[in-house]
Amino acid sequence: MSKTATLEFDGKKYEFPVTVGTEDEIGVDIKKLRGEAGIITLDPGFKNTGSCESAITFLDGEKGILRYRGYAIEDLAEKADFLEVAYLLIFGELPNKQQLEKFTNDIKEQSHVDEEMKKILDGFPKSAHPMGVLSSLTSALIAFNPSSVDVSSEDDMYKAIVKILGKFPVLAAWTLRKKNSLPLNYGDEDLGYVENLHKMMFEKPNKTYNVDKAVIDALDKLLILHADHEQNCSTSTVRMVGSSHAGLFASLSAGISALWGPLHGGANQAVIEMLEGIKEDGGDTHKFMQKAKDKEDPFRLMGFGHRVYKNFDPRAKIIKKSADEVLGQLGVEDPVLDIAKGLEKEALEDDYFVKRKLYPNVDFYSGIIYRALGIPVDMFTVMFALGRLPGWIAQWREMRLRKEPIGRPRQIYIGENHRDFKPLGSR
Ligand code: SDX
Repeated sequence: MSKTATLEFDGKKYEFPVTVGTEDEIGVDIKKLRGEAGIITLDPGFKNTGSCESAITFLDGEKGILRYRGYAIEDLAEKADFLEVAYLLIFGELPNKQQLEKFTNDIKEQSHVDEEMKKILDGFPKSAHPMGVLSSLTSALIAFNPSSVDVSSEDDMYKAIVKILGKFPVLAAWTLRKKNSLPLNYGDEDLGYVENLHKMMFEKPNKTYNVDKAVIDALDKLLILHADHEQNCSTSTVRMVGSSHAGLFASLSAGISALWGPLHGGANQAVIEMLEGIKEDGGDTHKFMQKAKDKEDPFRLMGFGHRVYKNFDPRAKIIKKSADEVLGQLGVEDPVLDIAKGLEKEALEDDYFVKRKLYPNVDFYSGIIYRALGIPVDMFTVMFALGRLPGWIAQWREMRLRKEPIGRPRQIYIGENHRDFKPLGSR
């Protein structure tokens, strides 16, 4: 294979080096393009543009492959727990027993937030969307943890990492408790990370907290499946904000806002709302399939399609299987699960979807499990953020350790050419 790529423009030829990744992905390095040829590339949405080299997550959209630091998502979802996967993503290796114990204890040490934060939470109306509250509270953490991370110090970076991993679940749980008019609590540090998250979210002040192990296992698996996904919209946002050397908490707050969008992490809420709408409308999936294909109709089949996966999303396959298991274990009958399966079956046989390679993505079935676990719909994307947190941290850390330059894309200007100023009286 050639080690360079040639661009011919305006009668001249320009050579650019080619980078080949460990999975044989090929990138043309155009760092010198504008300087040598005076031109730039144009790629709205960056469908064909790599923003960085990364060693964290590999995905192959054609083969439906997803690996964190080389480990298959199927193995991690089945055999690891969420904190092990968080450690793997952030530090590059699966932790041994001592490392995991220390990581877990250091996170527990940080699992409280300044009491003053409650005053900020009090300022939000109950009707506020939890993602907006969580993004604000994450940003507010900066005020109580003002020292920015010295990325040259492993110890400083580690302290910031365990701090946010400890505090984020508290903020997420308090966001829900505020909506439910429940006192703000800290759960129980003798519990595991995910079980304590569940306890903080749902325990009632005057009732003994009991939870089915199937619920915690399902939640743990869902968080693993959402933990990272290379340069998706919210991760690219975290990297972009961090590239200006804004702090970790500020970068994460921006990532939460990007994840909120219904085309991204907000899709899991939009899927359930769509399925509920189809159920209310009589359950005619064929009618909604036609709407999804009608260019005049803004309706899209939420939870379908993906920027990278042009075959099945491996996470969707795992979640679909888990949905059957969890609802069976909990004895939950959810008619929208059958509607979802009906939509998937129809889409897989429909030329419009097949031609465009639109398959269920991670958000298509996840909401059905969240609902069976008693999580309110407007908290679904918060659950996505809880899962994605270690991925955002890992990507931010890698970007800073690799001393990536500040992100500053160019543009092609299509506005007015120069024109003289017109005084007010003559306009
Ligand atoms: C996530 O990037 C990541 O990795 C994200 C994520 C992660 O883990 O971080 O995987 C999480 O965000 C998953 C995606 C969740 N979003 C949704 O489910 C929303 C519904 N999906 C679509 O909006 C869409 O599929 C996107 C946004 C996911 C992908 O959009 P693309 O790649 O830009 O595709 P496109 O908009 O260019 O669509 C290509 C064609 C178009 O038709 P034509 O113009 O070719 O005729 O497919 C059509 C689109 O109209 N299309 C759909 C569709 N998705 C694409 N038609 C109906 N329903 C859909 N869902």
